[in-house]
Amino acid sequence: MGFAQTQFIDWDKVPRVGVPVIDFEHQQLVIIINKLYNSVTSGVVSRSELLQIMLDLFDYTVYHFTAENKIMVEVGYPQAEQHSKKHESLQEQILDFASSFFEYEVDVREDLLQVLKTWLVEHIVKSDQPIKQHLVKCGIDPNRFAHSETQKNEKKALTLTDAFLEIKKNRSEIAKLRSEISALERQLRNSNKKNS
Ligand SMILES: [Fe+2]
Ligand SMILES: [Fe+2]
Repeated sequence: MGFAQTQFIDWDKVPRVGVPVIDFEHQQLVIIINKLYNSVTSGVVSRSELLQIMLDLFDYTVYHFTAENKIMVEVGYPQAEQHSKKHESLQEQILDFASSFFEYEVDVREDLLQVLKTWLVEHIVKSDQPIKQHLVKCGIDPNRFAHSETQKNEKKALTLTDAFLEIKKNRSEIAKLRSEISALERQLRNSNKKNS
């Protein structure tokens, strides 16, 4: 069914890095971004479902970036540190979008989609493809990095989402308490009026 939907990002047109695990994970990111696009444009998805897709996206970026950072360190890639800073900045943007959307009811979904599309394609060309060039230069076979090697990172990614969900839960409890306090204040004012 997913394939029949509009493709916001056409995976066939996304540049490949040439390292199997990285290309596999980029495809997964494209699938999640397309899912977010279809959810936004269909208009039938609830706010909580949208937030969940944003969190899934955040999770998968953590998963992918952790795997990519690990490869860079393993092969002694000289720009590893500045590359991982770029990863962190995208993760911060996704979390900012998700919390603005949740907390302030700001409709940031279209902005988020454009940021994601531009960021992903530019980042692949400017930052990820040079990793493959480094591997070739060092005589390392890119096929050494297969998808299964990153499975162990999954647990860490899930923990981060749990943390975000916890913040979300606390915020909704605070909001509930505030509305209860307002209702009590109203009641008090009304009874004071009656008594005066
Ligand atoms: Fe990267
Ligand atoms: Fe990447």
